[in-house]
Amino acid sequence: MYKIFNTAGEASEYTARRLLNQIRLNPRASLGFATGSTMEPVYRFLVKCLKRDPLDLSQLTTFNLDEYIGLSRGHAQSYRYYMQHHLFNKLSIPEDKVNLPDGKATDVSRACHAYSEAIEAVGGLDFQLLGIGSNGHIGFNEPYTCFFSRTHVVELSEQTRLDNGRFFANKKDVPTQAITMGIQDILDAKEIVLLATGSKKAAVMADLYRSAADVALPASALKQHGNVTFVLDREAASLLP
Ligand code: F6R
Repeated sequence: MYKIFNTAGEASEYTARRLLNQIRLNPRASLGFATGSTMEPVYRFLVKCLKRDPLDLSQLTTFNLDEYIGLSRGHAQSYRYYMQHHLFNKLSIPEDKVNLPDGKATDVSRACHAYSEAIEAVGGLDFQLLGIGSNGHIGFNEPYTCFFSRTHVVELSEQTRLDNGRFFANKKDVPTQAITMGIQDILDAKEIVLLATGSKKAAVMADLYRSAADVALPASALKQHGNVTFVLDREAASLLP
Protein backbone atom coordinates (compact mmCIF):
# COMPACT_ATOMS: atom_id res chain seq x y z
CA MET A 1 0.00 0.00 0.00
CA TYR A 2 1.22 3.52 -0.83
CA LYS A 3 0.33 6.56 1.29
CA ILE A 4 1.38 9.88 -0.18
CA PHE A 5 1.31 13.10 1.82
CA ASN A 6 1.88 16.70 0.80
CA THR A 7 4.72 17.32 3.22
CA ALA A 8 7.45 15.39 4.97
CA GLY A 9 5.94 16.55 8.25
CA GLU A 10 2.59 14.94 7.49
CA ALA A 11 4.22 11.72 6.28
CA SER A 12 6.33 11.59 9.46
CA GLU A 13 3.32 12.20 11.71
CA TYR A 14 1.39 9.43 10.00
CA THR A 15 4.35 7.09 10.52
CA ALA A 16 4.63 8.04 14.19
CA ARG A 17 0.90 7.41 14.62
CA ARG A 18 1.30 3.94 13.16
CA LEU A 19 3.91 3.26 15.84
CA LEU A 20 1.70 4.69 18.56
CA ASN A 21 -1.22 2.52 17.43
CA GLN A 22 1.01 -0.49 17.59
CA ILE A 23 2.01 0.31 21.18
CA ARG A 24 -1.55 1.07 22.19
CA LEU A 25 -2.84 -2.21 20.75
CA ASN A 26 0.01 -4.28 22.10
CA PRO A 27 2.03 -2.86 25.00
CA ARG A 28 4.27 -5.93 24.78
CA ALA A 29 5.12 -5.31 21.13
CA SER A 30 8.59 -5.80 19.68
CA LEU A 31 9.46 -2.80 17.56
CA GLY A 32 12.15 -2.50 14.92
CA PHE A 33 13.65 0.98 14.72
CA ALA A 34 15.68 2.76 12.06
CA THR A 35 17.99 5.76 12.28
CA GLY A 36 18.88 8.44 9.71
CA SER A 37 17.62 11.92 8.92
CA THR A 38 14.24 10.68 7.71
CA MET A 39 13.39 9.30 11.15
CA GLU A 40 14.18 12.42 13.16
CA PRO A 41 10.76 14.09 12.71
CA VAL A 42 9.06 10.73 13.37
CA TYR A 43 10.79 10.39 16.72
CA ARG A 44 10.19 14.04 17.55
CA PHE A 45 6.47 13.60 16.98
CA LEU A 46 6.38 10.29 18.82
CA VAL A 47 8.03 11.83 21.88
CA LYS A 48 5.68 14.82 21.73
CA CYS A 49 2.60 12.58 21.64
CA LEU A 50 3.87 10.35 24.42
CA LYS A 51 4.61 13.34 26.65
CA ARG A 52 1.08 14.57 26.10
CA ASP A 53 -0.66 11.18 26.37
CA PRO A 54 1.68 8.75 28.13
CA LEU A 55 1.47 5.04 27.33
CA ASP A 56 3.00 2.14 29.22
CA LEU A 57 6.33 1.50 27.47
CA SER A 58 7.77 -0.74 30.14
CA GLN A 59 6.96 -3.98 28.35
CA LEU A 60 8.13 -3.04 24.87
CA THR A 61 11.20 -4.57 23.31
CA THR A 62 13.09 -2.68 20.63
CA PHE A 63 15.63 -3.77 18.04
CA ASN A 64 17.50 -1.34 15.85
CA LEU A 65 18.33 -2.27 12.31
CA ASP A 66 22.01 -1.55 12.27
CA GLU A 67 25.19 -0.12 13.75
CA TYR A 68 28.59 0.90 12.43
CA ILE A 69 31.49 -1.37 13.24
CA GLY A 70 34.25 0.34 15.18
CA LEU A 71 32.26 3.14 16.80
CA SER A 72 31.76 3.02 20.55
CA ARG A 73 28.30 3.50 22.07
CA GLY A 74 29.19 7.03 23.07
CA HIS A 75 30.50 8.08 19.63
CA ALA A 76 28.32 10.91 18.34
CA GLN A 77 27.84 9.17 14.97
CA SER A 78 27.02 5.76 16.39
CA TYR A 79 23.43 4.67 15.98
CA ARG A 80 23.28 3.89 19.69
CA TYR A 81 24.03 7.56 20.37
CA TYR A 82 21.46 8.65 17.78
CA MET A 83 18.76 6.54 19.41
CA GLN A 84 19.62 7.72 22.92
CA HIS A 85 19.56 11.30 21.76
CA HIS A 86 16.37 11.18 19.68
CA LEU A 87 14.31 8.64 21.59
CA PHE A 88 15.55 6.56 24.46
CA ASN A 89 16.70 9.41 26.72
CA LYS A 90 13.23 10.88 26.35
CA LEU A 91 11.10 7.77 26.89
CA SER A 92 10.87 5.25 29.67
CA ILE A 93 11.69 2.06 27.80
CA PRO A 94 13.74 -0.12 30.17
CA GLU A 95 17.37 -0.22 29.09
CA ASP A 96 17.52 -4.00 29.05
CA LYS A 97 14.68 -4.08 26.50
CA VAL A 98 16.58 -1.90 24.04
CA ASN A 99 18.70 -3.77 21.51
CA LEU A 100 21.19 -2.52 18.94
CA PRO A 101 23.92 -4.51 17.22
CA ASP A 102 27.23 -4.12 19.07
CA GLY A 103 29.66 -2.34 16.77
CA LYS A 104 32.50 -3.07 19.19
CA ALA A 105 31.85 -6.79 19.65
CA THR A 106 35.03 -8.83 19.86
CA ASP A 107 33.39 -11.83 18.22
CA VAL A 108 31.32 -10.12 15.56
CA SER A 109 29.94 -13.20 13.89
CA ARG A 110 28.74 -14.57 17.22
CA ALA A 111 27.18 -11.17 18.00
CA CYS A 112 25.35 -11.22 14.64
CA HIS A 113 24.01 -14.69 15.23
CA ALA A 114 22.89 -13.77 18.76
CA TYR A 115 21.09 -10.68 17.46
CA SER A 116 18.86 -12.59 15.04
CA GLU A 117 18.28 -15.21 17.74
CA ALA A 118 17.19 -12.53 20.19
CA ILE A 119 14.65 -11.26 17.64
CA GLU A 120 13.38 -14.79 17.15
CA ALA A 121 13.22 -15.33 20.92
CA VAL A 122 10.65 -12.55 21.29
CA GLY A 123 8.57 -14.11 18.51
CA GLY A 124 9.87 -11.86 15.71
CA LEU A 125 9.18 -8.19 15.25
CA ASP A 126 5.61 -6.97 15.42
CA PHE A 127 6.44 -3.76 13.62
CA GLN A 128 9.46 -2.69 11.58
CA LEU A 129 10.15 0.92 10.68
CA LEU A 130 12.35 1.44 7.62
CA GLY A 131 14.01 4.23 5.72
CA ILE A 132 15.62 3.67 2.34
CA GLY A 133 19.07 4.48 0.99
CA SER A 134 19.48 6.19 -2.37
CA ASN A 135 20.81 2.85 -3.68
CA GLY A 136 17.77 1.01 -2.34
CA HIS A 137 19.33 -0.36 0.82
CA ILE A 138 17.15 -1.18 3.82
CA GLY A 139 18.98 -1.37 7.11
CA PHE A 140 22.50 -1.61 5.71
CA ASN A 141 21.56 -4.39 3.32
CA GLU A 142 23.33 -3.15 0.23
CA PRO A 143 22.47 -4.18 -3.35
CA TYR A 144 22.91 -7.91 -4.02
CA THR A 145 22.42 -8.92 -0.38
CA CYS A 146 20.69 -12.28 -0.26
CA PHE A 147 17.01 -11.96 0.61
CA PHE A 148 17.39 -14.86 3.06
CA SER A 149 20.10 -13.09 5.07
CA ARG A 150 20.08 -12.81 8.83
CA THR A 151 22.06 -10.29 10.88
CA HIS A 152 25.49 -9.98 9.27
CA VAL A 153 28.51 -7.77 8.64
CA VAL A 154 28.44 -5.58 5.55
CA GLU A 155 31.04 -3.67 3.63
CA LEU A 156 29.39 -0.31 3.09
CA SER A 157 29.11 0.73 -0.54
CA GLU A 158 30.80 3.88 -1.76
CA GLN A 159 27.34 5.39 -2.36
CA THR A 160 26.30 4.79 1.23
CA ARG A 161 29.59 6.12 2.64
CA LEU A 162 29.19 9.18 0.44
CA ASP A 163 25.56 9.70 1.54
CA ASN A 164 26.38 9.23 5.22
CA GLY A 165 29.58 11.28 5.00
CA ARG A 166 27.46 14.35 5.71
CA PHE A 167 27.36 13.39 9.37
CA PHE A 168 31.16 13.04 9.72
CA ALA A 169 33.87 15.70 9.77
CA ASN A 170 35.81 13.83 7.06
CA LYS A 171 34.64 11.30 4.52
CA LYS A 172 37.55 9.07 5.59
CA ASP A 173 36.04 8.89 9.09
CA VAL A 174 32.94 7.11 7.78
CA PRO A 175 33.27 3.48 8.86
CA THR A 176 33.72 0.97 6.06
CA GLN A 177 31.73 -1.78 7.77
CA ALA A 178 28.50 -2.15 9.69
CA ILE A 179 26.33 -4.81 11.26
CA THR A 180 22.83 -5.02 9.90
CA MET A 181 19.75 -7.05 10.54
CA GLY A 182 19.29 -9.29 7.50
CA ILE A 183 16.59 -8.96 4.89
CA GLN A 184 14.94 -12.14 6.17
CA ASP A 185 14.82 -10.70 9.71
CA ILE A 186 13.06 -7.66 8.26
CA LEU A 187 10.66 -9.73 6.14
CA ASP A 188 9.72 -11.77 9.21
CA ALA A 189 8.23 -8.64 10.82
CA LYS A 190 4.44 -8.79 10.95
CA GLU A 191 3.98 -5.20 9.80
CA ILE A 192 6.41 -2.90 7.98
CA VAL A 193 6.29 0.83 7.33
CA LEU A 194 8.89 2.32 4.98
CA LEU A 195 9.14 6.10 5.06
CA ALA A 196 10.78 8.08 2.25
CA THR A 197 10.79 11.86 2.14
CA GLY A 198 12.46 14.50 0.00
CA SER A 199 13.46 14.74 -3.64
CA LYS A 200 16.66 12.73 -3.08
CA LYS A 201 14.50 9.64 -2.62
CA ALA A 202 12.37 10.21 -5.72
CA ALA A 203 14.50 8.14 -8.13
CA VAL A 204 14.87 5.15 -5.86
CA MET A 205 11.16 5.16 -5.00
CA ALA A 206 10.28 5.20 -8.70
CA ASP A 207 12.67 2.27 -9.29
CA LEU A 208 11.15 0.44 -6.36
CA TYR A 209 7.63 1.06 -7.60
CA ARG A 210 8.45 -0.46 -10.99
CA SER A 211 10.77 -3.24 -9.88
CA ALA A 212 9.84 -6.84 -9.21
CA ALA A 213 11.66 -8.46 -6.28
CA ASP A 214 15.29 -8.19 -7.38
CA VAL A 215 18.49 -8.46 -5.31
CA ALA A 216 19.93 -5.46 -7.16
CA LEU A 217 17.38 -3.35 -5.25
CA PRO A 218 17.23 -4.61 -1.64
CA ALA A 219 14.01 -2.77 -0.77
CA SER A 220 12.24 -4.71 -3.52
CA ALA A 221 12.34 -7.72 -1.16
CA LEU A 222 9.43 -6.00 0.56
CA LYS A 223 7.27 -6.91 -2.42
CA GLN A 224 7.25 -10.44 -1.02
CA HIS A 225 5.66 -9.20 2.21
CA GLY A 226 1.91 -8.98 2.69
CA ASN A 227 1.74 -6.04 5.09
CA VAL A 228 3.98 -3.16 3.97
CA THR A 229 3.02 0.50 3.77
CA PHE A 230 5.22 2.81 1.72
CA VAL A 231 4.78 6.30 3.17
CA LEU A 232 6.00 9.15 0.96
CA ASP A 233 5.83 12.88 0.78
CA ARG A 234 5.02 14.55 -2.52
CA GLU A 235 8.72 15.08 -3.33
CA ALA A 236 9.70 11.45 -2.84
CA ALA A 237 6.66 10.44 -4.88
CA SER A 238 7.36 12.92 -7.68
CA LEU A 239 8.72 10.33 -10.16
CA LEU A 240 6.10 7.69 -9.48
CA PRO A 241 4.01 6.96 -12.59
C1 F6R B 1 19.48 3.42 9.28
C2 F6R B 1 19.04 2.64 8.15
C3 F6R B 1 19.21 3.13 6.77
C4 F6R B 1 18.53 4.48 6.53
C5 F6R B 1 18.77 4.97 5.11
C6 F6R B 1 18.17 6.34 4.88
O1 F6R B 1 19.22 2.73 10.49
O2 F6R B 1 18.55 1.58 8.35
O3 F6R B 1 18.71 2.18 5.87
O4 F6R B 1 17.15 4.35 6.77
O5 F6R B 1 20.15 5.02 4.88
O6 F6R B 1 18.84 7.28 5.65
P1 F6R B 1 18.35 8.81 5.68
O7 F6R B 1 17.05 8.82 6.35
O8 F6R B 1 19.43 9.51 6.48
O9 F6R B 1 18.28 9.24 4.27
